[in-house]
Amino acid sequence: MSDPLNLALIDRWRGEPAPLLPILHAFHDRDGYLSEAALRDAAEALRMPLADLFATVTFYHHFARTPPGQNRPRVCTGPICRLHGADELLDALAPQGATAMPCPGRCDRPIPVLQGHTLFTGAEGAPDSSPLPPPNPAGREECVFAHIREPGQATLPGYRQRGGYAALERAAALPAHQIIDQLIAAGLAGRGGAGFPTGRKWQMVAEAPGAPKTIVCNADEGEPGCFKDRAILDYDPHAVIEGMAIAALATGATRGFIYLRYEYPETFGILATALAEAEAAGLIGADVLGTGRPFPIYLRRGAGAYICGEETALLNSLEGKHPFPRNRPPYPVTHGFENLPTAVNNVETLACVPPILRHGPDWFRGLGLDGHAGTKIISLSGDVQRPGNYEAPLGLPLQTLLYDWAGGPRPGRAIQAVTMAGVSGGLLAGADLNVTLDDPSIRAKGSYLGAGGIMVFDDRRDMVQIAHDIMHFFAHESCGKCFPCRIGAQRLTERLNGGAPHLTPAAWAEEVDDLSFTMRQTSACGLGQAAPLVVDSLRRYFPEQIARHLAR
Ligand SMILES: Cc1cc2nc3c(=O)[nH]c(=O)nc-3n(C[C@H](O)[C@H](O)[C@H](O)COP(=O)(O)O)c2cc1C
Ligand code: SF4
Repeated sequence: MSDPLNLALIDRWRGEPAPLLPILHAFHDRDGYLSEAALRDAAEALRMPLADLFATVTFYHHFARTPPGQNRPRVCTGPICRLHGADELLDALAPQGATAMPCPGRCDRPIPVLQGHTLFTGAEGAPDSSPLPPPNPAGREECVFAHIREPGQATLPGYRQRGGYAALERAAALPAHQIIDQLIAAGLAGRGGAGFPTGRKWQMVAEAPGAPKTIVCNADEGEPGCFKDRAILDYDPHAVIEGMAIAALATGATRGFIYLRYEYPETFGILATALAEAEAAGLIGADVLGTGRPFPIYLRRGAGAYICGEETALLNSLEGKHPFPRNRPPYPVTHGFENLPTAVNNVETLACVPPILRHGPDWFRGLGLDGHAGTKIISLSGDVQRPGNYEAPLGLPLQTLLYDWAGGPRPGRAIQAVTMAGVSGGLLAGADLNVTLDDPSIRAKGSYLGAGGIMVFDDRRDMVQIAHDIMHFFAHESCGKCFPCRIGAQRLTERLNGGAPHLTPAAWAEEVDDLSFTMRQTSACGLGQAAPLVVDSLRRYFPEQIARHLAR
């Protein structure tokens, strides 16, 4: 028999779009875990097969099925935190039932521990507040961080005091195609990893048949080594909301979602407040700026799954389906949320939009160096003196960022390697550290800039161990839909961990080549296609470390 308390919770969300995640979170927050009774009632109310719901719930790392559930400590065991003693911390917290969790986006302050709705970080274990980005070390003009350090910038009055929502007012008076033309002229490309031109994406949504259209802000930020979106949302949430409202005017969208990763509980509260402020001021909601056009924005919280950052897996997650990536084409611009035209954009991409409309496309283009348009926020972590988020002009030499801006390695040490695109771009080392921060330069070295996470490793580090930890992450996060990725990532992890003592070095290399080639050719999404890069680059730069590993 259904529990009336459960049904009351379900009814709170049933009339809203994308109700499954908020219903599950409501139970999870109330009880600390998802009981079978709660799942049965949710399945019945939403007319879902219970087995499907069970499979979906257990896919997410952070939905607990037994007490003490989310009150159990979860310790980050990402590549940077392991360098700082994550394994020892996990052992120390074992009596409290601690478990490991993948990177929760705080590589600048290791080691984060998530318990209930609080993320604790740093050696002192204090409740976390995301540090403000340091002032630009070269005094360069910024786009996204231009006002982020001003007091009160996260509030509506503070944001408006510095010109906030002026771009939305201007956009409301323009024909939609002129908004899109300005973004195309600015050369803004997506900052979430794939780098697709934003103006073109919005144009495709505007031209696609079908309604209602949707704008989705991708705030999943699950890539290890990336923590920039969180800084933007914590200190300048209205910039992202304004960017979404402008996207709605440009595309004709009439509803929006922010999909925020589970591991940012404080950010959830900040966003909820900012959305309520914007709605009360008529900037979003039933009637945007008196134009008669609706644009409500719904805040939805993920439950821990890296693959949910991939835009089609994210859409399935929002729709309450199993969060596998979808086969493409068709693409979300024509067949997105509920199979209708949808623009999925990263937090940083959306935050670039209001300043572009305020200052013009030429201004944005001019922020970059050597013909590269605009800036990119780089999340820098690991063995550098000043880790943090830096807004760099595209085209800046990597060495300038590492040494002049971030202070270089610790005294007496040398930089051995860095990762690119968080961990998805593999490693760069040796003479290849002389790249500039732009995709043409980095792609020429077989890597890519992606979402802009860079982890630094000095000459003390065992690079085979680092590559193993990264591949272990991919194996753990592979959704399992295509077996070359599911099995290949696991086998590559084993090959980096002494898992093939019977193989000669030549046979090891042949097998690793075969696994990598098959994954690249046959994986359905970017996870399986990018994962082999870390092994490729390890073999290119560190053959002697691999030889030592195999000899052991
Ligand atoms: C495995 C995987 C994880 C991803 N994670 C994210 C993410 O956390 N945030 C994000 O914005 N994009 C992520 N992406 C890229 C998205 O699929 C998509 O390209 C992006 O959200 C589009 O926004 P943009 O054009 O503004 O960059 C991921 C892609 C893959 C393949
Ligand atoms: S490549 Fe990997 S993560 Fe992507 S759909 Fe296939 S199994 Fe899932």
